[in-house]
Amino acid sequence: MISWEEFYAEDHAIAAAPLSPTPAASHEAHHSHAPQPSMVFAGTTTNAAPSASPVLFSDPVRLTDLTAPGQAIIAGTGLEPIVTGAARLQVDDKRMINCRADLNQLVPFKYDWAWQKYLDGCANHWMPQEINMAKDIQLWKHAEGLTPDERMVVKRSLGYFSTADSLVANNLVLAIYRHITNPECRQYLLRQAFEEAIHTHAYQYCVESLSMDEGEVFNMYREVPSVANKAAWSLRHTHALADPHFKTGTPEHDQDLLRNLIGFYAVTEGIFFYCGFTQILSMGRRNKMTGVSEQFQYILRDESMHLNFGIDVINQIKLENPHLWSASFQEEVRAMIVEGTELEIAYARDTMPRGILGMSAAMMEEYLHFIANRRLIQLGLTEEFSGAKNPFPWMSEVMDLRKEKNFFETRVTEYQTGGALNWD
Ligand SMILES: [Fe+2]
Ligand SMILES: [Fe+2]
Repeated sequence: MISWEEFYAEDHAIAAAPLSPTPAASHEAHHSHAPQPSMVFAGTTTNAAPSASPVLFSDPVRLTDLTAPGQAIIAGTGLEPIVTGAARLQVDDKRMINCRADLNQLVPFKYDWAWQKYLDGCANHWMPQEINMAKDIQLWKHAEGLTPDERMVVKRSLGYFSTADSLVANNLVLAIYRHITNPECRQYLLRQAFEEAIHTHAYQYCVESLSMDEGEVFNMYREVPSVANKAAWSLRHTHALADPHFKTGTPEHDQDLLRNLIGFYAVTEGIFFYCGFTQILSMGRRNKMTGVSEQFQYILRDESMHLNFGIDVINQIKLENPHLWSASFQEEVRAMIVEGTELEIAYARDTMPRGILGMSAAMMEEYLHFIANRRLIQLGLTEEFSGAKNPFPWMSEVMDLRKEKNFFETRVTEYQTGGALNWD
């Protein structure tokens, strides 16, 4: 154990030494048998050779001097150098975006709803292998098990979703995460990212179980126009944030972030998923493809939580930054919701040229108008499609699915838990 005095003395000794060795020196140091310095981080080091230039495995970050020339400070990411002696974090320091308080301290919570959603997401944990696919395999392989229209619905759904969840996951990790400056929301984003990975796994598991042509399924988002149009729309709303130099902090850029959040949470997860989910769940209600349908039920339960989390984040940003929610921006958001709804209706028409499973493209259009109205109201806007009714009220029951009820009937495998740990 070293004292603070020794700690600072070493810190200054390191700061006075060259920060990085020449390539030749580095090569030599790695291959000599002389005593080697160990990892240098935040001013701590042991076994350092006293006179030679130290070989640094990471740049020394000095705790007390944040403004040292050349020291890059990445404010608002959680990667900033540590500030010793700074005032303790207060709950009122926390903000959804553009926060400069310490992002590595989860508590005190400011947004209890975000933490609760994280806990709820963990309580809903499931894995695709837990669902029995035997009946689906039998039905899919039977020449007369499904009609050609029903087969197309299964293929199109797996085709759209197998890549859509990757788009959502990539957007979360590569675009959204760094700009949401709140630890409890980041905790949920990390949980959501894992859930998106599970969803992509579930689609792959269905494709593999049914011995489908995986090239056909996974390329559908580039080859089938009604699928490609939705994927392209989502991707268009991540481009502004894809620039590695993009930063929030101006009204224009903060609105770019809001466009992304609305494009992914309210439209992609909140509208683009609904036709395919309704079709597959309707199939399950008719006792067809019950394994695929059950996978989709668990995914839909997760997705409804993703949607609600995203809406809460968007509304919190609006609350903390009312200047962003201008009249013109509100009209832009309304146009986004309407445009997304039209793309989903086009997808419904493409996948249901005839009535199927007790539904039709016209009924789906009504349902999507109903869903679009809900999204607008959730965002604090007025309805676009007055009088739209929900022709599929059973969908909301499915979203309230209780895991235990189904899993006792159908689970086929166990995933490893803490019980599998062995200390021997
Ligand atoms: Fe998902
Ligand atoms: Fe999602």
